[in-house]
Amino acid sequence: MRGTRKFRHVIETPDPGKWELAGYEASLPISEKSNPITREIDKADPALLVQLLKECDAEIFQEEEGALINYKRLYSESILKTVVDIAKRVQEIIKEPDDGLIVLSGCGNSGRLAMLLANSFNKLLKGLHKKPCYTYIISGGDRSLISPQEGSEDNPLVGAIELEKVCGGKKKVVFIGISCGLSAPFVAGQLDFCMNNLDIFLPVLVGFNPVSMARNDCIEGWHSTFRQVAERMQKLQEIQKAIILNPAVGPEGISGSSRMKGGSATKILLETLFLAAHKADCNVEVTEKCLLEILRTYERAHKVTYSQSKKIASFVKQAATSLQKKGHLYLLGWRTLGIMGIMEAVGCIPQFGADYRDFRGFIAGGYNGMLNKEGDLTALGTEFAISHEDFIKNIVPSLSEMDTVLFIFTVDDELPEIEKLAGLVKEKTSNFQAVSHATAGQCLPNSIKKLFPNIISITWPILFLEYEGNFIQIFQRELSTKWILNTVSTGAHVLKGKIYRNYMVDFKVSNAKLFQRAVSVVQRLTEQSQPRCIETLLQSIYGPEMLTDQIRSLPISKHVEAASVKDKVVPVAIVSMLRSCTVHEAKSRLDAYPSIRAAIDASINAPGRKRGAESSEAAGQNK
Ligand code: F6P
Repeated sequence: MRGTRKFRHVIETPDPGKWELAGYEASLPISEKSNPITREIDKADPALLVQLLKECDAEIFQEEEGALINYKRLYSESILKTVVDIAKRVQEIIKEPDDGLIVLSGCGNSGRLAMLLANSFNKLLKGLHKKPCYTYIISGGDRSLISPQEGSEDNPLVGAIELEKVCGGKKKVVFIGISCGLSAPFVAGQLDFCMNNLDIFLPVLVGFNPVSMARNDCIEGWHSTFRQVAERMQKLQEIQKAIILNPAVGPEGISGSSRMKGGSATKILLETLFLAAHKADCNVEVTEKCLLEILRTYERAHKVTYSQSKKIASFVKQAATSLQKKGHLYLLGWRTLGIMGIMEAVGCIPQFGADYRDFRGFIAGGYNGMLNKEGDLTALGTEFAISHEDFIKNIVPSLSEMDTVLFIFTVDDELPEIEKLAGLVKEKTSNFQAVSHATAGQCLPNSIKKLFPNIISITWPILFLEYEGNFIQIFQRELSTKWILNTVSTGAHVLKGKIYRNYMVDFKVSNAKLFQRAVSVVQRLTEQSQPRCIETLLQSIYGPEMLTDQIRSLPISKHVEAASVKDKVVPVAIVSMLRSCTVHEAKSRLDAYPSIRAAIDASINAPGRKRGAESSEAAGQNK
């Protein structure tokens, strides 16, 4: 179906990407492909880096291109129609909240977004003196909001049990399972449970791959693959018993990093859907026009945010300098912008093999500001201390010039508090900056302006909408903050040499999807056969002992268990293969270079190394 032409773009979207061509990395789903825009991001300076990520984010809003493969996109008529269909079902729950529930569920970043969205719309309902009817599930429970528990996403049975628990006694449930890559077993288990209980549940799957690209690996101890679950849903969709919402938004700027574009698109799509449902509740019919009106505000947010590219680039530079000097990066946020900061920091831990101490987020009010279901988690350990008081107590005493602190707030927040905290930070480091949001007509007091050496000050236009308008404004600011933080943290890690081309190369191999991604990246960079890559990866995980057939035949979950506690598993495997050396030697070689990128680059370009076709479709194939 052609894209809707009823809509005029707010931003210039890039030309249709090469990734849409039929043969482009054909073995990989869109969410795992490498984006042609960022192919050389590892060589970019901060200004170019921001430009490249801006272009990647703009792809979210790009229309489908008739001449190419015709993926469904955000503005495709079929997608808008699907959103309308779901909104109508959501509306039925809002109207009769006593017996109904809307459950949002996901793993990692998708679970954190599930919490954010459920809380936002419960707040919206409360403001209208209505009963809250949203709830969330995150794999691994609330502790995953603060500390990554990537392994928990591999269990479909636990997913189903958790869902059954939260829905006890409800007669009608709209279940929204978020898996950007159409890949998480935890979500697959929940969707399957819904399909076995259609008298109560409407299963909805949200992600950004076509069903034909959903993950098809066996799920240990379970009967189906994710793709089989999605195909079953597709059949049920024909009789309106299940719904799949899956526009393509293009590959991530850093391959596979679904918390970036996938996360942003999840936020845009679901907030649009729920806002439309709530509007309709006030007897306005949910129409495509109404959806387009809301989507346009997000597209505008992209333009407004990246109009600050120069300043964002200077944040990137500062953050990178801190990380390179082994300093730390701290994000201090107010209200939901604090949650955006925590989400950003937590997401970076597995993605860049970072330590939680390196990059941390704090929120005003701590868990009272998070509004998570399990309440205060501080007792679980220092990693879970997230309030500004915790920052003052645990971090400020050791804060130094090496560290960077970023304040994130709106001019409606407690400005005297912000001033006080900035004063404390200033005594320890000159590297503190701010992102501040205001609405036209508001302005940041001079005392605060003068306090911060560098400040991104964004003024949003007044939206003349009813009650929901306030929420659109909050959502715009959250998304804008997400884009800035995604860019700052990704940029800083790129400049620290954690990325090769646009591949993550130093991520924690902490679940089955990440194990498969590790195999794929090793294959892509070494151009060797899949069995050889797996062998070396296992050697890197279990080394220095010799691999036995018993180890080789272990299920992936066992390899993941062993890999989760090790550092640099993937870079060691890559260097070992490129240099034809032992994993022990590869480790020493890695240590001899200033960054992982430099070590891999030197190994790829080592004299005498035989090279295959750079563009070979090695990744993900059984060569
Ligand atoms: O496995 C880790 C991870 O990739 C996280 O980084 C991500 O947030 C999570 O999985 C969820 O991914 P998806 O939304 O594709 O299921």
